[in-house]
Amino acid sequence: MKPLMLTAAAAALTALLGATAASSAYSQAPTEASASAGVTQSVAEARADALLAQMTLEEKVGQISQQFMFGDPASFEQMIREGRLGSGLFVTDPSVINRLQRVAVEESRLGIPLLFAFDVIHGFRTIFPVPIGLAASWNPDLVEDAQAVAAREARASGIHMTFAPMLDVTRDPRWGRIVEGPGEDPYLASRLAAAHVRGFQGEYIGAPGGLISGPKHFAAYGASEGGRDYDSTYVSDTEFYNLYLPPFAAAVEAGAGNIMSAYQEYNDVPAAANNWLLNDVLRGELGFEGFVVSDANGVNSLVTQGFAHDTADAAVRAVAAGNDMEMATGENAFATLVQAVREGRIEERVIDQAARRVLVAKIRMGLFENPYVDEARAQDVMSTPAHREVAQRAAEQSLVLLQNEDGALPLDPAAHARVAVIGPMADSPVDTVGNWVFVEDEDETVTIFDGVRDRLEGAAAVTTAPGVQLRRGVPSMFEMLRPSPPAWSPDEARAEFDRALDLAREADLVILVVGENQSMSGEGASRATLDLPGDQLRLIREVAALGKPVVAVLVNGRPLDIAELTESVPAVLSAWHPGTRGGAAIAGALFGDVNPAGRLPMTWPRSVGQVPIYYNHNLTKSPDDQERRYWDEPSTPFYVFGHGLSYTTFAYSDLSVSAPAADGQVQVSAVVTNTGDRAGDEVVQLYVHQRSGRATRPVRELKGFERITLNPGESRRVAFTLGERELRYWSAADRAWIMDARTLDVWIGGDSRADLQGEITMD
Ligand code: NOJ
Repeated sequence: MKPLMLTAAAAALTALLGATAASSAYSQAPTEASASAGVTQSVAEARADALLAQMTLEEKVGQISQQFMFGDPASFEQMIREGRLGSGLFVTDPSVINRLQRVAVEESRLGIPLLFAFDVIHGFRTIFPVPIGLAASWNPDLVEDAQAVAAREARASGIHMTFAPMLDVTRDPRWGRIVEGPGEDPYLASRLAAAHVRGFQGEYIGAPGGLISGPKHFAAYGASEGGRDYDSTYVSDTEFYNLYLPPFAAAVEAGAGNIMSAYQEYNDVPAAANNWLLNDVLRGELGFEGFVVSDANGVNSLVTQGFAHDTADAAVRAVAAGNDMEMATGENAFATLVQAVREGRIEERVIDQAARRVLVAKIRMGLFENPYVDEARAQDVMSTPAHREVAQRAAEQSLVLLQNEDGALPLDPAAHARVAVIGPMADSPVDTVGNWVFVEDEDETVTIFDGVRDRLEGAAAVTTAPGVQLRRGVPSMFEMLRPSPPAWSPDEARAEFDRALDLAREADLVILVVGENQSMSGEGASRATLDLPGDQLRLIREVAALGKPVVAVLVNGRPLDIAELTESVPAVLSAWHPGTRGGAAIAGALFGDVNPAGRLPMTWPRSVGQVPIYYNHNLTKSPDDQERRYWDEPSTPFYVFGHGLSYTTFAYSDLSVSAPAADGQVQVSAVVTNTGDRAGDEVVQLYVHQRSGRATRPVRELKGFERITLNPGESRRVAFTLGERELRYWSAADRAWIMDARTLDVWIGGDSRADLQGEITMD
């Protein structure tokens, strides 16, 4: 990168801010601050205050305005030059980022750099499994590694901030955004939340190669009524504190620099202008010090929602409620704040406070010292072999073996001469990488067909056909940027179906790849049923009727109704949307190089009529009556929370519970043994149940887990510590967090039905 000379304005600003890197030119070298622990919050606040004192009201409002930079980037230059924009999103080309940044730094009055944001959700160029798949790995270290790679690639492109992780716990698989989240459990979600934030940000905000992490959507978006995206949420305080809030608390504790307020109304007060959520809870109770950004057009939506009477009212109420920055397409509602201050409808100090928070983020990211990205270096960082290795590991660890009758899997790679990989997602790069992917390298994407073909190279002839075309075209951002292929005519559909059946007929092994395409989950992609869409059931039936060995790979963004599939084929492997190396990981698992060990991060219903169904429910009637809840269906799930099979077996023994220590902490441990003949990972899970208290408590709650690897015959004692952090809960009777357990049941095992039980006595 060529050294760029400081302009007079930028030099004056650097002096004003007392920047630690007293460089004569902007450079990529780590600053003094970023080589150690970064600029602290208080130092950054002092510098921001010095800068605020120089700013006009218009410039302050500009700092808290963010725009989607679709279309011609040049169209934003005038706004930037006039200091009317603080941040942009959806630009990923480093040369465009530098061009716009140069306008901000060299041509605006104060030379304040822009903050570039992007949805780096499960990878940038190298794509990891969708977040629900990452959650299924039950491996926070892996999640951290994956997001560190994603951050490095994005940062090398000039991006400073990601709108991730999505931490919306949900109990409703109809909701399309379940694919972006951590599943149904607050403890698992909290452990993952901290890992995502650490991965994105590194040790501190401004660490080299790190992004500001912006957990979203605050809060309880996962409670959307009917699983319909964007719908209202009505949430009790008990659910809010015990279910929806914990992952955000963990993310804030891990140092997340940003939070996105949710679109939806929360108990009739939209989240983007909800003073209780943003000021009382997020800042007051959780101690969040970063800045809050609205979701896209979330401020303008306040008018649509019948909350604000016009745009100007919306802007005032959002910023007053603690929503610091507005993300918008088109005109920012926040532009009206200048007038609002002049008319006395809001005090300027509220704008100052929001602008200060944004400036602090820019200062902590070192943007005043290093506003530009090294364009020449960007490509070298993308999709390196080391990054692809993390993607492969992540895909392998996210696979969940749902069913495996008679040891149908793993397959013997030497036993088949002709293999047909059949189904609509069998050879589809977009469905392999999944949602929230915009700049992936399609040539690097290994589809399931690619993976099987490569694995069997020389040993078998591998063919593929989709058989069925699934409708695309939920008008998501993804679809707008990547138009769908034309729909098949009825004749083409018949011919394609027959071609797939012919390939299956000629093969001596069929790998059926069924499920959902990537557009069937994600934003604006909720479903009213959990059925296998399109003509896939007919494909499954007709392939199964051929009487050949068949196994199934499920490509999915949510639990699906797979009752008939599991009756038709002996083995089903859930792959989610597995990312760049997905096909290689899946082939590895099918042919036994990889032993799957992912676990379901949510309960898997039998049918949509059971929704919501979740493992951590209360016991409202005798257990003997559990089966009498529905007339026409058992009330038990198809697969329990934490379910996932292995090619080996594990046994649990010798559960031990220590007496409570002086600080109330209890150690619980058990011995886990690999009783099979293959090495494998086991996700050791600990559940508790509080027998009585000031509130009824769930039948089981996850309070510890560890993914371990054991060789055949190997045993290990796995220990967990339970203390106030794990055992407290928010009690409606007290309107406070309390810990009143006297006796607790505790279980350690491989899923939420774990039966090795002990007892904890607190008194
Ligand atoms: C809307 C989505 O709800 C949010 O998750 C995303 O980060 C923003 N759009 C920006 O793309």
